[in-house]
Amino acid sequence: MSRIERLISSMTLAEKLGQLTMTASSYAVTGPVIAGDSTDAIKAGTIGNLLNMVGAEHVREMQRLAVKESRLGIPLLIGFDVVHGHRILFPVPLAEAALFDPETWALTAREAAKEASAEGLAMTFAPMLDVARDPRWGRSVEGPGEDPWLAARIAEAKVRGFQGPRLAAADALAACAKHYCAYGAVTAGRDYASVDISERTLREVHMPAFAAAVASGVAAVMPAFTDLAGIPMTANKALLRGWLRDRWGFKGVIISDYNAIAELMRHGIAADLAEAAAHALNAGVDIDMMADAYRRGLPIALQRKLVTMAAIDESVRRVLTLKEQLGLFDDPYLRGRTPESAAAFSGRRKLARAVAGRAIVMLKNDGETLPLSGSLRRLAVVGPLADAPGEMGGPWWGAAGRVGHVSVTAGLREMLGESHIQHAAGVAIDDEDVSGIDAALDVCASADAILLCLGEAADMSGEAASRAHLGLPGKQRQFAQAVFERARDLRKPVIVILFSGRPLVVPWLMDQADAVLAAWFLGSEAGNAIADVVVGRLSPSGRTPVTWARATGQIPIFFGERSSGRPADPKDHYTSKYLDAPNEPQFPFGHGLTYGRFTLFNLRVTPVNAEDIDTLQIRVDVRNEGARAAEETVFLFTRDKVASVARPLLELKGFAKISLPPGESGTVALSLRAGELRFLGLDLEPVFEPGEVEILVGPCADRSKLLSATVQLSWSRPC
Ligand code: GLC
Repeated sequence: MSRIERLISSMTLAEKLGQLTMTASSYAVTGPVIAGDSTDAIKAGTIGNLLNMVGAEHVREMQRLAVKESRLGIPLLIGFDVVHGHRILFPVPLAEAALFDPETWALTAREAAKEASAEGLAMTFAPMLDVARDPRWGRSVEGPGEDPWLAARIAEAKVRGFQGPRLAAADALAACAKHYCAYGAVTAGRDYASVDISERTLREVHMPAFAAAVASGVAAVMPAFTDLAGIPMTANKALLRGWLRDRWGFKGVIISDYNAIAELMRHGIAADLAEAAAHALNAGVDIDMMADAYRRGLPIALQRKLVTMAAIDESVRRVLTLKEQLGLFDDPYLRGRTPESAAAFSGRRKLARAVAGRAIVMLKNDGETLPLSGSLRRLAVVGPLADAPGEMGGPWWGAAGRVGHVSVTAGLREMLGESHIQHAAGVAIDDEDVSGIDAALDVCASADAILLCLGEAADMSGEAASRAHLGLPGKQRQFAQAVFERARDLRKPVIVILFSGRPLVVPWLMDQADAVLAAWFLGSEAGNAIADVVVGRLSPSGRTPVTWARATGQIPIFFGERSSGRPADPKDHYTSKYLDAPNEPQFPFGHGLTYGRFTLFNLRVTPVNAEDIDTLQIRVDVRNEGARAAEETVFLFTRDKVASVARPLLELKGFAKISLPPGESGTVALSLRAGELRFLGLDLEPVFEPGEVEILVGPCADRSKLLSATVQLSWSRPC
């Protein structure tokens, strides 16, 4: 009999339910304080998993209690939200998506896993894979952007990075794909609100990233808080057992979100905790995070015959199997035994700086304002985010907290020298006080150029942080307007550095600024990375993974829309448009300027007659007509104009990068298996349809900027 079966056969009900329970420990700077009865429960074997614990010595102590002082000595599974780094923070996930670089996505996850596992952690509640097309939703910042194909690539990279080649390795973190499924489609962009979308949108847009995570071997999945068309995900048997386990073959652990099982009562599908626990267990949820519903509710549910002991044992088996895969039984103290070297930390900070620089998206750069020329000796660095190191980490700042991050002023002073940088906040991020504006304008008056640092606070995006108004908070607009007017009088350039967890709706700012850098929340090395780009040590290369609306009323706005029977036509009144705003976004998906100037030409696609077993080879030439070396990203889209189902106007199918010195040309090569052109047919099952498909390449999801070719698809064998 295996170790796991021996354990299950000897466990009491309380010990079994303990393995299905995860309790939070509220850590403080001085170390974690286990909340509630967890310490006693660990010794009693009635808590088997912890979250929100950091600090190797404390983790080790909790592990020792479980292994040495409980009856069966089952090691704890200890997890934490290592979302974009642990103590050294990389850019927030939405910003990191802007790199369009799977190797780097995996690398930062690997580094975060090394840092977190060195403190004894064995699981992260990441990657967050919720496709989001509504920036009112604060959690857009944690996710992969608006496109399902991109989200799937991020899923693969992050699972690979966090888990590494072997889950039992000392530096492996079990990844937890979350929040399954369609959380990003909450009603009105309001966090936790109901989700009600078509089955087609669910399968075409929101499921692919999770399927990719499962195919990549993700160890755990976390259901979303939300209901999907009236069925809360935490009790959604069709999607948890039907799809995740039966259709995709997921054998890992399903962990509820925080208190989500108890919240089935608020959803209105459980009259009490026992019913809630029964719903979740029967749907396949293995671990109850923080609701204590399994420990308190399942004994009653058993008595009421709402659940079976076999179902409980099935979940216990999966949890113990994960602990065994992580090597926790063989060496519970493996993770956390060996502290990382100083060199590891310094190398990680260097990586954080490099990744942060590549996450910056240059939205505008009129007159090649950037990079700042060496003759500009004095810079005014103004605005509420100019000297705000605590905001640079963005939401989900993990064990890093809000300390140790480099601000814009600090980065520029380090780069250019103290005397070149004059700072004034002008206004706060979000209050009504405008008394600081005049002093800030005086600082601008004595400068050669003005860096205007505006945006959201770190906690204005992330969980429970939806916003109905997507402009600048507080009095920032009034301040910015005053700076623009003063700068016009003084004929000085204004470079806006915009910090946000989402694409803000600020058309007035985009119109007036000479240059705009989307700095999202870049993590620990934010200020140094921004300085690298501003002075020209690094050419910006980031491309926005989300469409930027010009008006909140355009939301949801994304490139993968379907055509409609009356697509917008300025010559025809009765077409899909607004009376008071354009359809076009402020910036399309994939937009991002560099210090080069790239032209694409000579697109060729072979074969032009492709069978379903063929691979299309796509080549396009690129020339850098700018004066500086830079890296260009070329996107590959397809458009299936006529099919059995109305298809999206554009579908992302690939991307590639090319770096070119000024005046040089090169060729970008992309390939696309014709089988990738399958789509969900009328019956929502994958189908390959012969016919014409457009292949489009270009710098972003703006059709006017794309080169296109057409291929004819056919079956390789008679139908
Ligand atoms: C939170 C979040 C989830 C996170 C979990 C543990 O409420 O929804 O993303 O992993 O609780 O902190």
